[in-house]
Amino acid sequence: MKLWGGRFAKDTAAIVDEFNASISFDQKLYKQDIIGSIAHAKMLKKCKVITEEEGKEIIKGLKEILKDIEAGKVEFQIDYEDIHMNIEKLLIDRIGEVGKKLHTARSRNDQVAVDIRLYLRDKIDDICEKIKNLLNTLMVLSKEHIDTIIPGYTHLQRAQPITLGYHMMAYFQMFKRDYLRMMDCCKRVNIMPLGAGALAGTTYNTDREFLKEELGFFEICENSLDAVSDRDFVIEFISDASMIMMHLSRFCEELILWNSAEFNFVEMDDAYSTGSSIMPQKKNPDVAELIRGKTGRVYGNLFNILTIMKGLPLAYNKDMQEDKPPLFDTVENVSICVEIFEKMIKTMKIKKENMKKATKDGFMNATDVADYLVKKGVAFRSAHEVVGKMVLYCVQHNKTIEDLTLEEFKTFSRVFTEDILEAIKIENCISSKKSQGSPKKQNVEKMILSGKKFIEALEGNKEMI
Ligand code: ARG
Repeated sequence: MKLWGGRFAKDTAAIVDEFNASISFDQKLYKQDIIGSIAHAKMLKKCKVITEEEGKEIIKGLKEILKDIEAGKVEFQIDYEDIHMNIEKLLIDRIGEVGKKLHTARSRNDQVAVDIRLYLRDKIDDICEKIKNLLNTLMVLSKEHIDTIIPGYTHLQRAQPITLGYHMMAYFQMFKRDYLRMMDCCKRVNIMPLGAGALAGTTYNTDREFLKEELGFFEICENSLDAVSDRDFVIEFISDASMIMMHLSRFCEELILWNSAEFNFVEMDDAYSTGSSIMPQKKNPDVAELIRGKTGRVYGNLFNILTIMKGLPLAYNKDMQEDKPPLFDTVENVSICVEIFEKMIKTMKIKKENMKKATKDGFMNATDVADYLVKKGVAFRSAHEVVGKMVLYCVQHNKTIEDLTLEEFKTFSRVFTEDILEAIKIENCISSKKSQGSPKKQNVEKMILSGKKFIEALEGNKEMI
């Protein structure tokens, strides 16, 4: 008989058992479920809702079940629907009648909510650790390539020269915000719903403060109806995860381009590339492409859960069982993507010479020529026009700005003197960018230093997460 079978005159249809069950996916929560149950049993014992002896038996039984599951000795059953009832049934089978007392002052509604929160809290911790590794790698790459010149693009057209170190530190900022968002999300995940009952609390003399301490939550959900009704913390997590994926995906897109013969800026290591079944010469950046592709999955998960929740009256509705597949899928994909991405960029070959060469023929110093004229008293808009004409002349005569002689410069403006030839050197175009936050070496050094401090602070505050 089902654990809730008393009210029923006949069995549910087999097809409904199959349809209703979540055990195929929520078995992932077995550990959290048992940890939550042990805390609950301790609390019942402490509050004398069950006797000392009963409490001990239940806790012992639960610990044994945990061991058995971990040893692969347990087969979950669809008949018991979900992880909560499977474990309860295993307990009753193991310790008899006293096992039936575990579900006193509790509902699956607060049970599932606490399980998900315990699970997610740990996963956020893991994901943050992986982001931290990525931040570290970006910092190392940035240090190494603080002088590596590369074109900076807008509209994917060569715009102004920058350094690879500067480019890497731009992503550092993005992933730093992603890290902070995850930490912030954790503040709302780490709140305890247990003790909320089905929706209206319970009539027993319980101690939720004790449960909170036992399970290491920051706070207790203030309103029990809210505690069992909402999954906004899941939505927030998937939304933050979507942002991580969006950043990874943009970075991957750049690397895929850079890895092409057309750009030829980087080469993915063999260990992070794959071949073609037909074209023997191919070496494809599949890892980067897959990360870009998996971003779609995570966005889909966000819409999935948002849509599940949008029309639900309070409190629990079975629709909410559908929260777990998108949540688990997001956790798995974000974790693997951050990890593999970090390994991929750490091992890729960077072709400095090609990067620098690419800054030569895109008129990337045109803005610097205009700035030169401004410093000699020409209004910026007029200087822009003069340089525009110079570029047109160069295009028509198949020249770069560097190819022009001082005499040619002078035909566009009398203001040009000898020093223009220095001002247009690509290295100088970077070092002359004085504004705060620019690619000038000293600025990137500052960024690296502040990044280092951020990572050190994280290491010091690990407990906070
Ligand atoms: N398997 C269910 C879920 O994941 C557990 C909660 C069921 N509660 C209930 N009242 N049916 O959402």
